Amino acid sequence: TRVAVLYGGASAERDVSLKSGKACAAALYERGFDVQLIDVGRDVGELVKELTPPPDVVFNALHGRFGEDGTVQGVLDLMGIKYTHSGLLASALAMDKAMAKKVFAQAGIRTVEGMVMTREAILATGDPMPRPYVVKPVAEGSSVGVCIVEEGANTLPFAEEDWPFGDEVMVERFVPGRELTVAVMEDRALAVTEIAPKGGFYDYKHKYTGGVTDHIIPARVDPQIYDEAMRLSVKAHRALGCRGVSRADFRYDDTGGEPGVLYLLEVNTQPGMTDLSLVPEQANHAGIDFGELVEWMVQEAAC
Ligand code: DAL
Ligand code: MG
Repeated sequence: TRVAVLYGGASAERDVSLKSGKACAAALYERGFDVQLIDVGRDVGELVKELTPPPDVVFNALHGRFGEDGTVQGVLDLMGIKYTHSGLLASALAMDKAMAKKVFAQAGIRTVEGMVMTREAILATGDPMPRPYVVKPVAEGSSVGVCIVEEGANTLPFAEEDWPFGDEVMVERFVPGRELTVAVMEDRALAVTEIAPKGGFYDYKHKYTGGVTDHIIPARVDPQIYDEAMRLSVKAHRALGCRGVSRADFRYDDTGGEPGVLYLLEVNTQPGMTDLSLVPEQANHAGIDFGELVEWMVQEAAC
């Protein structure tokens, strides 16, 4: 089977994708696949040329804009090439945090209260909700551009002139408590991990630097909450119409004692596959090694 691994890309998560792509390509090569690595830029003509004649399956190891948001999925649909992970619509919905919230609400899944606002409006009228609150780009991953506006802080990080993530931002209530995450393989939730950054929050640095974040698997939460996180992850995957592997991220407010309240933050349709990433760890916990995981993704895409 010929597999073209798309990696790199033109998003803020390019470096993460380079790592995900290399890891997946190496594992597929080891398992006997005929692997071609394609570093995707912004030149779609170049990509189309690289994919002609077509591989049997594209392994999409891109993250963020142009890789996770439905755009590259549309190109592959047009070319009639099968690919791993979600299709165009689910990718576009999941990537847009405002649209995803609407889908989750429709499905009866609790999300964090939030709204889309322009930066200008926030800067002109002041705090849109009581502090602490979170401001994030509407469509980025890996916590790129996410800031927590703390009580007492007198500068707003997104006030910078050169803020590169568009004029509209998602403003959300800051949910205290813990961060939980669940990988989904089609209709199966793999495990719940508690992510405990040592200081600060689970930002880009805490995601991709070894030793600065604890991954507690299985998460030490009330069994009822554990089951609920597993169930909601599959439900969210289905509500968006996701395919293959996805990963649901939650905040768990247990500050009033256990069992607390679970809030779905988002579903990642192209979750990281680096050596510090969560999905491979959760698969491992469920008895599926990295090679088996990526092979399953290719096989699922091919049928
Ligand atoms: N956006 C990164 C790659 C993740 O969700 O793992
Ligand atoms: Mg994300």
